[in-house]
Amino acid sequence: MGGRSVVLLNILLIVVAVSAGEAEEEPVNKSTLGLWENNNEDELDGGFPSLDGILHWAIGHSDPAKLQQQAQQHLSTQDDHILQKRQTEIKEVVEKLEEEMPSDSKLMQLAIHDLKNNNNNNLEDALHQLLILVEAIHNANNLHNMGGLSLVIAQLNNSDHTIRTTSAWVVGKAAQNNPLVQNQVLQLGALPKLMLMVKSSFIEEAIKALYAVSAVVRNNDKGIELFYSQGGDIMIQGILSNTTADVRLHRRLVSLIADLAEYQLVYNSNLELPFLNNCALVKVLFDLTTSDDLDLQEKVLLAVKNLLMLESTELLVLDGFCGLKGALERMRLQLQQLIREENDNEYAIDVDGLCKEVNLIYLEKLTKTRGLNNISVSQVPT
Ligand SMILES: *[C@@H]1O[C@H](CO)[C@@H](O)[C@H](O)[C@H]1NC(C)=O
Ligand SMILES: *[C@@H]1O[C@H](CO)[C@@H](O)[C@H](O)[C@H]1NC(C)=O
Ligand SMILES: *[C@@H]1O[C@H](CO)[C@@H](O)[C@H](O)[C@H]1NC(C)=O
Ligand SMILES: *[C@@H]1O[C@H](CO)[C@@H](O)[C@H](O)[C@H]1NC(C)=O
Repeated sequence: MGGRSVVLLNILLIVVAVSAGEAEEEPVNKSTLGLWENNNEDELDGGFPSLDGILHWAIGHSDPAKLQQQAQQHLSTQDDHILQKRQTEIKEVVEKLEEEMPSDSKLMQLAIHDLKNNNNNNLEDALHQLLILVEAIHNANNLHNMGGLSLVIAQLNNSDHTIRTTSAWVVGKAAQNNPLVQNQVLQLGALPKLMLMVKSSFIEEAIKALYAVSAVVRNNDKGIELFYSQGGDIMIQGILSNTTADVRLHRRLVSLIADLAEYQLVYNSNLELPFLNNCALVKVLFDLTTSDDLDLQEKVLLAVKNLLMLESTELLVLDGFCGLKGALERMRLQLQQLIREENDNEYAIDVDGLCKEVNLIYLEKLTKTRGLNNISVSQVPT
């Protein structure tokens, strides 16, 4: 979308949704447009920010009278019955808005200015604004140059936990799939702080902090190394074995394990993470599958699948992979029951398929590893 303002795009989505809801000739199923109703993003980063708030913030920084006048002119005309006409009008509104709206970098500047002034009344709005803006990679890339990243990171120390939470969210969003920002966050020394926040007793803070930690270390050698040296493995095991911890934390941690294993697989990293080939970890993962959360079960299976494929887990495989067979059997019984009770619950069928796949991978690797072992035995000089 090039230089088009992210904020503008969000406004466009709102306008389209409102308009679709109003057009009676061609009813549109609103739930397909209902990003902001359904929190579809929940899985990715723990929730969608309030678009209303952003809209108000953005409008607050332009000329509200003009914008409102235009919106009224174009959206509430009574004689409007044709969807196509609507669409043309929406396009016009957007074009007008585009002229009126400040550019992304102007909005970034304004938000950063509010952060700099450190006035607690504006902080939350400014952070939410950045949250939307850094979704575009060019804005994320500019955040540090404009002085914003260190200001956001400084707010991880704010005494108000909601400010800390949103700050972690911004850091995570900016760093996600962005090696440049990942390295900037690491250089600014924010990872240990974020890791501490994962242990917060405010659950949202813990979740957003873990989101940020995962975003910063994903596929990043330095990040993984630092995570590990700061006791990341102990943190993971501690939370995973806490049966009363929030299931969202568990899901995210299990995905982090899958990521760490995948990194070793794909990049053949020299970075050895012994905790990945440790029965203590694998058993904790299996224990999680006794929960009836299908999403969690699926994530555990995906993580186990990656762990199984690591070269470093050969010994575990020869030894039955920490009771994999029993764990899979138990899961499959549980899933079969769910499939019976819930009229072929498709999700359960998929997860059951994944169980079979994991078992096959295990058997293949077992055969291969045994073969390799026998060869090396026969090659021992006599
Ligand atoms: C809208 O979509 C949902 C989910 O796909 C569906 O359950 C519902 O019946 C649909 N409603 C209409 C009016 O099509
Ligand atoms: C947060 O505060 C601690 C001490 O209270 C300090 O050591 C640390 O550098 C601060 N972190 C940031 C990012 O400002
Ligand atoms: C386990 O999680 C609960 C809920 O988040 C928390 O209150 C408790 O302190 C945790 N226990 C340990 C030992 O970390
Ligand atoms: C490989 O060696 C193991 C004992 O180490 C033995 O049980 C197994 O049968 C051997 N497999 C093959 C294919 O020779």
